[in-house]
Amino acid sequence: MKIVLASRNQDKYKEIKDILKHTKVELVSAEEFNVPEIIEDGATYFENAKKKAFYTSTHTQLPAISDDTGLEVFALGKTPGVYSSRYAGKNASYSDNVRKLLREMQGKTDRRARFVCVCVLCFPDGTFYQTRGEIRGIITKEPIGRGGFGYDPVFYIPELKKTFAELSLEEKNKISHRAKAFKKMAQLIEKLEPEK
Ligand code: IMP
Repeated sequence: MKIVLASRNQDKYKEIKDILKHTKVELVSAEEFNVPEIIEDGATYFENAKKKAFYTSTHTQLPAISDDTGLEVFALGKTPGVYSSRYAGKNASYSDNVRKLLREMQGKTDRRARFVCVCVLCFPDGTFYQTRGEIRGIITKEPIGRGGFGYDPVFYIPELKKTFAELSLEEKNKISHRAKAFKKMAQLIEKLEPEK
């Protein structure tokens, strides 16, 4: 099934393409369709993900899939959460956000956190499906590793004794919040496909 990824984030596209590589999903980038920018102003991951998928599906007349993700840090009341991309301001870079997070975490002993990913698949007639994935970890005191993107260098997975940024794409895609949400969605699509 040909599905448009409702995101312009190339880091996510690379991961999702790899996660879905052995499934029936033929993923195409929204960039191929000149989909106008979609403002993420929802109060929840689901609202944002649904808005992106619905808009992209209507615009392209193809099924569209989206991902809305946040980092939730327990000592900071589960923030930045839905505001993860603009934590340090409207046009903040990944490193601006990481610097702000490390500043806010100075002196905190509880460093538990989790990534939450909500995936929404939407069809042009408005039918939609959602899945969710999460992974728990620990916020490090400084960035470690050069891979991944976003908050990966400060997200440590105790079982692997590594941050996300120290993992290869394949390793991250075995355990990540995004992999869990998208693999569940791929299973759901397998069941849907005969009727569509
Ligand atoms: P979005 O709103 O879903 O595009 O993502 C929010 C922000 O969360 C992104 O700008 C990244 O900073 C961060 N983020 C999303 N996914 C990941 C990930 O897998 N690792 C690290 N940071 C991520």
